[in-house]
Amino acid sequence: MTIVEACESKTNTTPDFPMGWYSVERSHELAVGEVKAVQAFDRELVLYRTRAGKAVLQDAFCPHLGAHLGHEGRVIGESIRCPFHGWQFGTEGKCEKIPYCDEIPERARLRTWHTEEKNGEVYIWFHPENTAPQWGLPDLPELDDPDWTSPRYTEHLVPAHVQDICENSCDPVHFQYVHRQMEVPESSVTIDPDGRTMHLHSEAATADYPSHLHATTYSPGFAMVRNTYGPNAEMVMYNSAQPISAHETRMRWTLMVRREIEDLAGDDVMQGIISGLDDDFPIWANKVHKRRPVFCKADTTLVMFRKWVRQFYVTENDKREIA
Ligand code: FES
Ligand SMILES: [Fe+2]
Repeated sequence: MTIVEACESKTNTTPDFPMGWYSVERSHELAVGEVKAVQAFDRELVLYRTRAGKAVLQDAFCPHLGAHLGHEGRVIGESIRCPFHGWQFGTEGKCEKIPYCDEIPERARLRTWHTEEKNGEVYIWFHPENTAPQWGLPDLPELDDPDWTSPRYTEHLVPAHVQDICENSCDPVHFQYVHRQMEVPESSVTIDPDGRTMHLHSEAATADYPSHLHATTYSPGFAMVRNTYGPNAEMVMYNSAQPISAHETRMRWTLMVRREIEDLAGDDVMQGIISGLDDDFPIWANKVHKRRPVFCKADTTLVMFRKWVRQFYVTENDKREIA
């Protein structure tokens, strides 16, 4: 007798969150003294900027009676004050002041996440054990280059696990079926000697705007796409993700084109990239994460992706079942 299994569901197939850098906010959207509630990695977090200008990301629930520091918490110098009874926590998470008591309990501290600001964004180094960063953030030199336009920012809330979204960048076949290219583009995937940075080169010859596409993926959810339409006719799209839960990811895109094509085609190519997301959306919104996909012989880049992505997971369960 063979019992037919229940259908896979979104809730029982997704892996944990892979380690790496992720964005939690644009720098210009966090003013000095501002406090924000942030949801990321299935956690409630509080993000604030101290008076000295440091962006700090900590667990949101006060160890005292559990108030959410992201709602009505207040920046006091280099600390944050809980709205409920006024306990103050420093940028390392230690409780520094209880206004009505001289003795501060040892366990009165908030978990603090490693943050860094670069390329106009506030990043978190996420590791399930909250350990120190294992590599640095890439530069985005186009941001300060006068040959490039000033950045255009977009934000997209995608109902899928961060790994499944990232997998798209190693999936040339879907360009034909989802993005309506005439054929599967000629593509290659390579991995740098460090084993971590992955490149996809793809000839989008039959796309709306024919180009050579080069996607550099630094870690799941952190990538740069460079489209070259001709000499000095280039666009870059820089994507940093904020996994909210196992099934929801916020993507922050920064788009720039070279000045040479700004007036001629700038809006069109940027809009083309953005509307490409609409094509992917119904697939992402309705798919499950396949831990053990059935691959055919020609799915070589997808197989490479699955092997590559293992390094970002910590538990044996996730490492084993992903590929
Ligand atoms: S709950 Fe935060 S100080 Fe009491
Ligand atoms: Fe896609």
